[in-house]
Amino acid sequence: MEGNERKKVILSGIQPSGAFTLGNYVGAIRNWAKLQDEYDCLYMVADMHAITVKQEPAKLRRNTLDAYALLLACGIDAKESVLFIQSHVPAHARLNWLLACSTQYGELSRMTQFKDKSAKHPDDVNAGLFTYPVLMAADILAYNADLVPVGADQTQHLELARNIAQRFNHRYGDLFNLPDGYIAPKGAKIMSLADPTKKMSKSDENQNGVVYILDDKDTIMRKFRRAVTDSEACVRFAEGKDGINNLMTIYSVVTGKTNEEIEREFDGRGYGDLKTAVGEAVADHLAPLREEFSRIAADKAFLSENYVEGARRAAAIADRVTAKAYKKAGFVDPRG
Ligand code: TRP
Repeated sequence: MEGNERKKVILSGIQPSGAFTLGNYVGAIRNWAKLQDEYDCLYMVADMHAITVKQEPAKLRRNTLDAYALLLACGIDAKESVLFIQSHVPAHARLNWLLACSTQYGELSRMTQFKDKSAKHPDDVNAGLFTYPVLMAADILAYNADLVPVGADQTQHLELARNIAQRFNHRYGDLFNLPDGYIAPKGAKIMSLADPTKKMSKSDENQNGVVYILDDKDTIMRKFRRAVTDSEACVRFAEGKDGINNLMTIYSVVTGKTNEEIEREFDGRGYGDLKTAVGEAVADHLAPLREEFSRIAADKAFLSENYVEGARRAAAIADRVTAKAYKKAGFVDPRG
């Protein structure tokens, strides 16, 4: 990161939620891999964020390792990028405290995700759930990230991170870069196959509409065959044809074909043909990822080598920034 041609720093995180959907893959992870050449990338498995909702410890541990393995399988290069597990880098928690004292209660109360999640889990509205966006700000600011690829559900948190950074800089002197969101040039939003007006989400009650990266071919084909369409029986991308638009978007993402090419390919053919073709293309696209994942997830030594090294490299950056922040805040230098 030296010299006048400093590459921009990208940081993003994903929670170890057990299973990643085709939507997560297309909307996030696939793009992360593509950014590696152009940017200095840091990617983390946000296990500390995960415990804001109840987790079974053994399951969290497995999900964290699986998420790490999956990121590797999806093409994140742990040599080129810094790929790490959030809880392995103590600077996040240390910076979190400092930033919490530069965040207002009122700001956090306005976060829509907090409102949604506390309504969903009224029996566990813990303080971590409330201060979650501060930890996320620490994740980002500890690396002075320039760009943060996030989905629409996280833009409010990113905006807050900018405000916190600005406030800290104003109060203690310039330290933090103000991060911007990174919008993928060809962002595609994948909708549920069962209800194409809703985003594909693993928490969907109707699991027929949700395709997972690690689904086998039969499962994928079954889900696509059941996909909701419309009664027009004409494959074209148009307003009001949510189901077909979604299938065409998915087909376009995995084959690289344009909508016009797809319309031509299915000219005079029925939706059944489209569903089969999309299902097969998705299954073919995901098959190598699934194989790679099985190989990596089974190789514990390889995994630990990578996350230990990832944490070391992440800490080298985050410790330096956090030490500066502590100094600015007036804490005595622990090195004497
Ligand atoms: N909160 C994010 C999510 O749930 C994950 C996350 C944690 C993150 N820390 C981050 C994303 C820092 C971007 C930057 O999706």
